[in-house]
Amino acid sequence: MSEIIDTAISELKDGGIIAIPTETVYGLGGNALSEAAVKKIFDLKNRPLHNPLIVHIASVDELEKLAKNIPDVAYRLAHTFWPGPLTLILKKKEIIPSIVTAGLDTVAVRIPDHWLTLELLKKLPFPLAAPSANPFGSISPTKPDHVLKYFKNQLNLIIDGGECQRGIESTIVGFDKSQNPIIFRQGAITAEEIEKITGKLHFCTHEDQRPKAPGMLSKHYSPKTKSCLTNNLKTTLQFFEGKKIGALLFQNPLGDLPLDHQEILSESGDLKVAAKNVYAAMHRLDQKNLDIIIFEQLPDKGLGITINDKLRRAAKD
Ligand code: TXA
Ligand code: MG
Repeated sequence: MSEIIDTAISELKDGGIIAIPTETVYGLGGNALSEAAVKKIFDLKNRPLHNPLIVHIASVDELEKLAKNIPDVAYRLAHTFWPGPLTLILKKKEIIPSIVTAGLDTVAVRIPDHWLTLELLKKLPFPLAAPSANPFGSISPTKPDHVLKYFKNQLNLIIDGGECQRGIESTIVGFDKSQNPIIFRQGAITAEEIEKITGKLHFCTHEDQRPKAPGMLSKHYSPKTKSCLTNNLKTTLQFFEGKKIGALLFQNPLGDLPLDHQEILSESGDLKVAAKNVYAAMHRLDQKNLDIIIFEQLPDKGLGITINDKLRRAAKD
């Protein structure tokens, strides 16, 4: 393993971009302090330059090199959830090139919870800017194969860290002028879990030309196949009768569809398991040349709220 980490370090020191595993989704990592490396990430992803990146670090001690005026509540959140799927939006210091933050005066930071990437970050002399390793707008990658499919000949190294354990992106929390926390993007940590530390939170769901977080673009994480989200499977199936239908289902299979056109997210109805499986299931269905993929709405509680949000955006025309 140390050989892979050494190769990764030399690629990154040369200004290269590599794929890194995290507990949420795979990322495309590059030197966050190098404008040229960060530009390569935007180019690879075909990502608009107005959509800023998350900077990944190995320890809370590094925070003060990158950010200033850090609210106490941010430290409480960091100490509770890091390493883990929480991203904090903080006032940036000069050291972060403005391409990383798309010109904003804030920077997004997190400590990912994957031993290989933590090992790498500890040994690197700089933090890693890393968006999810998918072309802009397409389904997020939770396995090395997904990254390979997207970026076959364009990456010198994909660190194989197995399947991502959480399976959906980090929750993004920022702060208003009075330092009250705001959820910018729902993710693998639920609002309830965050509220245990912060007290009642607000959400920032406003969508505009320059979204505060990508989850706030109304269309995102999408399969190429036309998709729809429903809370009434029976009626939706009737509506698409005669078409080649695929179904992304929470717990139970459908009697009237071929089994290989169905993906069950968690037979036992466990939302954590459903989150871990959802993008991989979407990738598989998207490869079956179907006319339509029907997403079954999950229970609107806890992680179900986040997954439904992802499904709604994926299904948007
Ligand atoms: O779980 C994750 O967060 C994964 C893994 C790889 O860490 N990364 C990820 O990155 O989802 P990405 O680029 O797909 O989504 C992160 C988003 C940015 O697109 C941006 O909208 C938001 O975080 N963001 C970054 N900097 C921000 C800032 N200064 N203010 C508000 N939102 C920001
Ligand atoms: Mg993304």
